[in-house]
Amino acid sequence: MASIVLENITKKFGKVTALDGVNLQIDDGEFIVLLGPSGSGKTTLMYLIAGIYRPTSGRILFDGRDVTNLPPKERNVGLVFQNWALYPHMKVFDNIAFPLTLKKADKNTIQQRVHEVANMLRIEALLDRYPWQLSGGQQQRVAIARALVKQPQILLFDEPLSNLDALLRIGVRTELKRLQKDLKITSVYVTHDQAEALAIADRIAVINNGKLIQVGTPNEIYYNPRHTFVAGFVGNPPANLLNAEFDGTRLTIETKTFQAPAELLQRISGRRRIVLGFRPEKGSLLDHITENAVGIEVQVYEVESMGREQIVTVSIEQTMVKVLRPSEEKFQVGQRLFLCVDIKDLMLFDFDTNEALDVR
Ligand SMILES: Nc1ncnc2c1ncn2[C@@H]1O[C@H](COP(=O)(O)OP(=O)(O)OP(=O)(O)O)[C@@H](O)[C@H]1O
Ligand SMILES: [Mg+2]
Repeated sequence: MASIVLENITKKFGKVTALDGVNLQIDDGEFIVLLGPSGSGKTTLMYLIAGIYRPTSGRILFDGRDVTNLPPKERNVGLVFQNWALYPHMKVFDNIAFPLTLKKADKNTIQQRVHEVANMLRIEALLDRYPWQLSGGQQQRVAIARALVKQPQILLFDEPLSNLDALLRIGVRTELKRLQKDLKITSVYVTHDQAEALAIADRIAVINNGKLIQVGTPNEIYYNPRHTFVAGFVGNPPANLLNAEFDGTRLTIETKTFQAPAELLQRISGRRRIVLGFRPEKGSLLDHITENAVGIEVQVYEVESMGREQIVTVSIEQTMVKVLRPSEEKFQVGQRLFLCVDIKDLMLFDFDTNEALDVR
C-alpha cells in the first residue's frame, strides 16, 4: 500500500502535450478511476506512475518519497493492461509465476504465492491449462493474478475489461472491486466507460485533453459536475446542455422564452448567455407547467424503449433534448408537450469557461 502524489505533471511527446499540469493525490488503499475519452492521456498517466515514462516536468511521490526517476522494477507496481496477452506456450501456473521466476524467487515461495492468488481469484482448478483453454473472463483473472503475485504496493489497470462482453464485464468488475477492498492495494483504474467508473470508483478523476477536469466521488461527479464536459460525458444518456440567452428577467432557448425563476436570478445576473443543464431523469413531459419548475414547449421527436424506462427525444426547434421516463407513460412522435425541470435540478454553467456557476 502506498499513497500517490502527482505534482504538476506535464508529459510531452514532441509537439503533442499528452498531459498538462496534472495534480492528483491518491490515498493509501484508495480505488481511483481515471475516466476520459480516447486520446485524453489516461495510458500516459499510467505509464508515468509505473515508471515506463518520465514526466517532461513535475514530480511523482509514493508515500512522500520522490520516485520520479526510479525505474519500473524499483517501484513495486503491478500492471494489468488493455492487451493483457498471456504467454501462450506457458501453462496458467507458469504465467502467474512468471514475475517471481524473473526475480529468481525460490520454488517454495513461488508455489505458495501462486496458489494463494489463484485461490483468491478462484482459478486454482485452471493452473494446469494453457491460456487457449480458458474463457475470456478466466484469462482476465489469470492476468490479474499475475499482477498480484508480486505483492505490489500499487495496482494499475488500463481498460482491463475491454476485451470482455458486456455481461462478463459487470461480473468481473464487481469481483475486482471486492478484491481491491480486501487487499487494500492502492489502485488506479483506467476506463472510458462512465458507467463502469461510477460503479467501482472510490473517486473518479475526469480527464480531457491531458487536463484533469474534476476529481470527486461518483455522486459528486454525477450530481455536481463542475464543468460541462463532465455533465456531458457522465450518465446514460448524459446531461442535457442548452445554450440560453438572458435579458435580465427572461431566458430564451432558440426562440422559446420563459421567465427566469426568482431563485436563479441572483446566480445568473449580469450574464447575457449561460448554459443550462439537467439530467435526463430529471425532466418530465406534461400538458402543463408544474410549480417550482421551468417549462418549455417541445415536440416529441423519437421514442426508444429501454425496457423499464424509455428515452424520449424531444425538440426545441433545432435543439434535441433527451428525457428518461418510465415505460408506462405513453408518447407519440409529433406530440406537443411541456418539458418541465424542477429549479433545484437545474445545473448552471458559464457560457465562456464552461465551468459550473456555483457550488450547490
Ligand atoms: N509515444 C507517443 N508518442 C507520441 N504521442 C503519443 C505517444 N503516446 C501517446 N501519445 C499521444 O498522447 C495523447 C494521449 O495518449 P494516451 O495513450 O495517453 O491516451 P488514452 O487516454 O489512453 O487514449 P485511449 O482511450 O485511446 O487508450 C494522444 O494524443 C496520443 O496520440
Ligand atoms: Mg489508453
